[in-house]
Amino acid sequence: MNENIIELSYLVAAVLFIVGLKKLTRPRSAVLGNQLSAIGMLIAVVVTLLHQSILSYEWIVAGMLLGGAVGALMARSVKMTSMPQMVALLNGFGGGASLFVALANVWDPATGTSTIALVSVGATLLIGAVTLSGSMVAFAKLEGLISGKAIAVPGNTALNGLLVAAGVGLATAFVFSPQLVFIYALLAVSLILGLTLVLPIGGADMPVVIALLNSYSGLAAATAGFITGNTVLIISGSLVGASGLILTEIMCKAMNRSLRNVLFGVMGAVSEAVDEDAIYQGKVKSTSPEELAMLLDGAERVVIVPGYGMAMAQAQHAVRELANALEANGSDVKYAIHPVAGRMPGHMNVVLAEAEVPYEQLVEMDEINPQFSQTDVVIVIGANDVTNPLAREDKGCPIYGMPILNVDKARTVVVIKRSLSSGFAGLPNPLFAMDNTLMLYGDGKAMIIELTASLKEEASARAA
Ligand code: TAP
Repeated sequence: MNENIIELSYLVAAVLFIVGLKKLTRPRSAVLGNQLSAIGMLIAVVVTLLHQSILSYEWIVAGMLLGGAVGALMARSVKMTSMPQMVALLNGFGGGASLFVALANVWDPATGTSTIALVSVGATLLIGAVTLSGSMVAFAKLEGLISGKAIAVPGNTALNGLLVAAGVGLATAFVFSPQLVFIYALLAVSLILGLTLVLPIGGADMPVVIALLNSYSGLAAATAGFITGNTVLIISGSLVGASGLILTEIMCKAMNRSLRNVLFGVMGAVSEAVDEDAIYQGKVKSTSPEELAMLLDGAERVVIVPGYGMAMAQAQHAVRELANALEANGSDVKYAIHPVAGRMPGHMNVVLAEAEVPYEQLVEMDEINPQFSQTDVVIVIGANDVTNPLAREDKGCPIYGMPILNVDKARTVVVIKRSLSSGFAGLPNPLFAMDNTLMLYGDGKAMIIELTASLKEEASARAA
């Protein structure tokens, strides 16, 4: 295929990516944005496959068939509740793919030996390997294979500094003297760096590292684009890298952490133990769906606070039904969305959109917080850390300083969860023991269904 046509097609693909990204910023145009970007990617892949430098297609077709089959199988079998882990895994695979492009370039003597290619090989190996091993740790934490809390690595900051210096040194040595020994040493150092960067980050700080790994996977793709001289890979990788960085900043703001802390891995310090008994004993009150229905029957303003447990219980459709019943009863219903609720960025938005909850009813933390004092009932379903007042009060606790949803300011707070167990950060929650809090113990979906049925009965009894 003519080189000009290829470059022109890449330009079209790049424009489609950028317009697609822009459209993704609004829920209404997001589907179109996704489709435009997908068309862009199709053009990029087809045109790359038609490039004259490809001499045989056997390996490409075999890879596509094998990868496509594994991908289709994973997509069909993964439970909706395991999506965050899947996203972490795919992020790692992105870094791994770039890493293999760099290795292939090193192993094939026929490929580029220009300074740009050599620098790009070093950078891709470093960033790709960190993304791969770091994402595997994030996956293991989210899947519960290892503790989700911060796992202390002795001398972590100094060790990370040393590993970064060694990685940069080895990559530089490779540029000046392209020998395999530097590459294998760089690979080992970078894989270890991924582990030591992510292991000490845990609890409520995970969202920041997930966004950062997302950005790294884009950067690795961009540097791989320099190795292969593929413009569209450079552009799409840079877009992922930049948007991942913006997401990292949003997550840092949500957690009230600085990016410097994240990059040097000094956050998420292991917590001092908080005495659960002192917080809960004799102070926690429980309620039933029937009692709660009576309370809700007279409520003018209701705010629903979804969290990870709502996604786990797959309660979003039931929650929407409850909101419909409340609205039919004359209540004003809103959903309060905390930026790090759930286990992946936008988790609550995705889950609620699946149940076709109207976007206008989703209100972000900064906007909803001043409204809690005028709210009659807050229904917290499967959320815990994002409502934990320790973040406001306890300087020694690992989530201190993280902005939370100030649900305790409402007249009554109802918390639906199965027990008093802690959330991802592993902390007790004084909210559960507050005077204006009632606990409704049980599976999120089952409880909401019972509550809706009781509310409807209550309303029809009143009407009769
Ligand atoms: P969490 O603090 O993790 O609390 C979730 C609660 O849901 C648990 O306490 C659990 O209590 C309850 N639950 C679980 N299954 C349930 C079910 N079937 N029915 C009812 N309740 C159920 O959730 P959150 O408030 O959404 O906070 C998110 C946390 O995850 C934050 O610490 C955040 O930093 C972290 N995190 C976020 C992300 C992103 S990017 N969003 C990524 C990684 C980590 P029971 O066991 O008593 O039911």
